[in-house]
Amino acid sequence: MSARQVGQPPEKHKLIASRVNRLSPSGIRKFFDLLASMEGVISLGVGEPDYATPWHISEAAVRSLEKGYTMYTSNSGMPELRQETARYLKEKYGIDYDPAGEILITVGVSEALDLAMRAILDPGDEVIMPDPHYVAYDSCVILAGGEPVMVPTRQESGFEVDAADIEARITAKTKAILLGYPANPTGAVMGREKLLAIAEVARRHGLLVISDEIYARLVYGVEHTCYAGLPGVKDSTILLGGFSKAYAMTGWRVGYALAPREIIAAMTKIHQYTIMSAPTMAQVAAIEALKTGEADVQEMVEDYNRRRLVIVKGLCEIGLSCFEPRGAFYAFPSIAATGLTSEEFSEKLLLEEKVAVVPGSAFGGCGEGYVRCCYATSLAEIEEALNRMGRFVSRHRRK
Ligand SMILES: Cc1ncc(COP(=O)(O)O)c(C=O)c1O
Repeated sequence: MSARQVGQPPEKHKLIASRVNRLSPSGIRKFFDLLASMEGVISLGVGEPDYATPWHISEAAVRSLEKGYTMYTSNSGMPELRQETARYLKEKYGIDYDPAGEILITVGVSEALDLAMRAILDPGDEVIMPDPHYVAYDSCVILAGGEPVMVPTRQESGFEVDAADIEARITAKTKAILLGYPANPTGAVMGREKLLAIAEVARRHGLLVISDEIYARLVYGVEHTCYAGLPGVKDSTILLGGFSKAYAMTGWRVGYALAPREIIAAMTKIHQYTIMSAPTMAQVAAIEALKTGEADVQEMVEDYNRRRLVIVKGLCEIGLSCFEPRGAFYAFPSIAATGLTSEEFSEKLLLEEKVAVVPGSAFGGCGEGYVRCCYATSLAEIEEALNRMGRFVSRHRRK
């Protein structure tokens, strides 16, 4: 290939950085665009609570606006929010984080993930993660110049990732292991023993673990194990969490990262040049959520649990075998009974029966053969969606 001459315009595709060209457009967006143009659709697509933020939390933010608290905050986040976050983590999981230096308040876990990757990765560094996984995980690694490395997980083993499978993928370039449990899209939860085995692999190979625990509070009949709380791992862990899911605060855009000082300092450097500070009123709302939002969380969790039981039973009854999700608010049924690909299934289901689900392939190769159904919607809608899906499956059952 000949070099471009001075003054000669670049070819169109070369205007965009190659690492951006490498990203495939989110498989989720395509369905939302189609859905937006249709009427009467029941959406099990979007991964967010159907609740509005509890009013006392919103009201705290409204009050702060009335008082004129509309300036930037400290780059690291409001001291009170960092203190409350530290108190919460200590009370829930017994872990000590210093609000001055080990906590950064971010624009949701989304920003925290991006900062974590950019802070730790040099070009070509590898990050091991489960497949299927949340759509942003591999993209964030690629955008930071790294290489995502997939570890297959399967329905038969509850979509939990196995320490030996992780170890088998470690190379001289491996920098970190990225975990996200309770999991999007599968609803899988990792038990303490399995996490301890991963911690041992990380220790043996000197790897960082990034643990995205945004769904920590949404667990049903099982305990959430906070990875950073396992013995001896805190100094090699970046713990991410936030307010979007448990407090129904997706639109507020606030979350946090907790990590050893030098990592938080590096993440803060990037954050201060690109973001400055998370939205002020959202930080005020987050303080209120941590101080007085516990009862709301518990009420919503009980409600999600009722819907979870209905959708899992219903999916199994219509012939879509479904592993029992113990966390988050997703069911991830197998569509093998139909013989359709997950994209075909999702597109036909939307067009023929007006039910929106997300193709499993959007979450990685091992998601093929499954669809993600978010049950953070009313019981009446879940029941109607199941009726429609039942009709659809009987029409498309594999011959
Ligand atoms: C696993 C996971 N991590 C992170 C996020 C992003 O969360 P936030 O709203 O805090 O940016 C999501 C959102 O769906 C998610 O499912």
